[in-house]
Amino acid sequence: MCGIVGYIGDGQATPILLEGLKRLEYRGYDSAGVALYEDGKLQIRKTKGRLTALEDLIKRECVAGSVGIGHTRWATHGEPSDINAHPHVNSKGTIAVVHNGIIENYMYLKERLQQEGYKFVSDTDTEVIAQLIDYFYKGDILDAVINAVSRLEGSYALAILSTYEPDKVIAVRRDSPLIVGLGEDGNYLASDIPAILKHTRNVYILEDGEIAVLTRDKVTVLDSLGKEIKKEVFEVKWDVEAAEKGGYQHFMLKEINEQPKAVRDTLAGRLPDGSDVKLDDIKLSADDINKINKIFIVACGTAYHAGLVGKNLIERLAKIPVEADIASEFRYRDPLVDEHSLTIVISQSGETADTLAAMREAKKKGSRILAVTNVVGSSVAREADDVLYTWAGPEIAVASTKAYTTQLVSMYLLAIKLGLERGTITEDYAEMLKSELRQLSEKIQKILDNQDTVQKLADNNYTAKDVFFLGRGLDYSVSMEGSLKLKEISYIHSEAYAAGELKHGTLALIENGTLVIALVTQKHLYDKMLSNIKEVTTRGAHVIAVALESMREIEKAVDDVIYIPDCAEEVAPVLAVIPLQLLAYYMAVARGCDVDKPRNLAKSVTVE
Ligand code: F6R
Repeated sequence: MCGIVGYIGDGQATPILLEGLKRLEYRGYDSAGVALYEDGKLQIRKTKGRLTALEDLIKRECVAGSVGIGHTRWATHGEPSDINAHPHVNSKGTIAVVHNGIIENYMYLKERLQQEGYKFVSDTDTEVIAQLIDYFYKGDILDAVINAVSRLEGSYALAILSTYEPDKVIAVRRDSPLIVGLGEDGNYLASDIPAILKHTRNVYILEDGEIAVLTRDKVTVLDSLGKEIKKEVFEVKWDVEAAEKGGYQHFMLKEINEQPKAVRDTLAGRLPDGSDVKLDDIKLSADDINKINKIFIVACGTAYHAGLVGKNLIERLAKIPVEADIASEFRYRDPLVDEHSLTIVISQSGETADTLAAMREAKKKGSRILAVTNVVGSSVAREADDVLYTWAGPEIAVASTKAYTTQLVSMYLLAIKLGLERGTITEDYAEMLKSELRQLSEKIQKILDNQDTVQKLADNNYTAKDVFFLGRGLDYSVSMEGSLKLKEISYIHSEAYAAGELKHGTLALIENGTLVIALVTQKHLYDKMLSNIKEVTTRGAHVIAVALESMREIEKAVDDVIYIPDCAEEVAPVLAVIPLQLLAYYMAVARGCDVDKPRNLAKSVTVE
């Protein structure tokens, strides 16, 4: 999730681009760059690091011009470095491109271009786009762009500047946002509204496949075949702060609502037709996989909860014993790890001190390390033997939401891969799970479309003093995440319990009016859960169930139900957690809490 800006007009482009990038830094911040047209040439300034590093570079090596494009990067293909920073140019230096998104077929395109004699300098998918436009350039830059994007698979928002036609900036998008700002002194381009709000409130919001051609005094919007279309001007009424949050009240709510896309991006390119899964960054051979005799999953907090789901799945699918461990415990308990073990570390930031230390401990003992992380080039990614990236984009709210669901999705991919390689699952079963995974994004959206129901329940229950989350099997792992979410942002005391364990002590805490959230998504455990629900309702608990749509009869046993779409029980955690995130969010808002920055907590815990 990178940030894009562009400008063409009567003013100086550099300050406009830098100011715009500053407003977009929340979209990514591992490197930044600009391309301007000056004296018949493209002038590129780009560097690894935060935007201040680019500002310093431009102070040392000034660049002027009234047309330019800029980028702030959140690395996907290729670690953060000067070379991998955008803009990328073709070998002749005549076409500059900035890109937000992931090109799934970039390796195929790169190989084809290399056969044609093209040389590449970076590891990025974006450089392929610049070279591909060059390949198609036959005297008309717009034609070349249309031809090139028709070959791209994946998601992209692109801004293109070329010496061939320096009086225009071309923009095109698919599955990544892009807006065009209509100004008095020129026209603007950005991946997000805050970048250009200082200059104009009149924008075109580009739709998938649309192409915009910006000149100094005009913006033309075309469909994917190059036919001009008429666009409605959208007048932005938000202030800058609201615009950064995409109009949502908090980053957390924005990120909860981004989950359909985050899940789709994490699965993109990894579920080819047939039973296989494609995990390019994992180099474990079939032989390596068959030699693993034990897996350790280590992580902290929410990432640990994703690990618990991973344990269940890997044991179920690959028949390898798995221990899921809290990183701060693992590192000091002298775990029985050896060269036949695989240690999976899960970390959104890739910088959590306890997780890093646990990983180093496992490595010292001879274990191979597989990292699941959201940050390319993070310490965890660099030190691991294999990396499986989650493509959630930057997560800003302290409470993790979209990182968790993408970590879950990664656990499914991994479990299927291991199961297939070890021959412990059939191809039919793998295909069934793949089909369930492909449907997740849409089903999450369905739950989000119904969030009013959850908000009402939150408004009715936000004064609760204690909340108990109950579940069995996978539902128990999700209960732990639901409980953590609630306590960390609403400061309500809450506990998660394996529903069968209640009667061994905790039942003593249930009294008249105690709020209980019961997860009921595991069909084979349905009757058992009903008995556990009965145990608490007879003691006066107020029960909200999270259940599958087809489990309507649950209404007789509880006070309220939040339904999630029917799905295979293996993938239910990805859906069941969404209402729990929303419940925590709306209860915290009703209590007036600082949702994005809960007290005493930090986003990345880099101390022990
Ligand atoms: C809770 C939360 C934390 C993190 C934990 C690990 O909402 O976000 O529990 O999951 O601090 O962080 P990462 O995944 O960056 O290692």
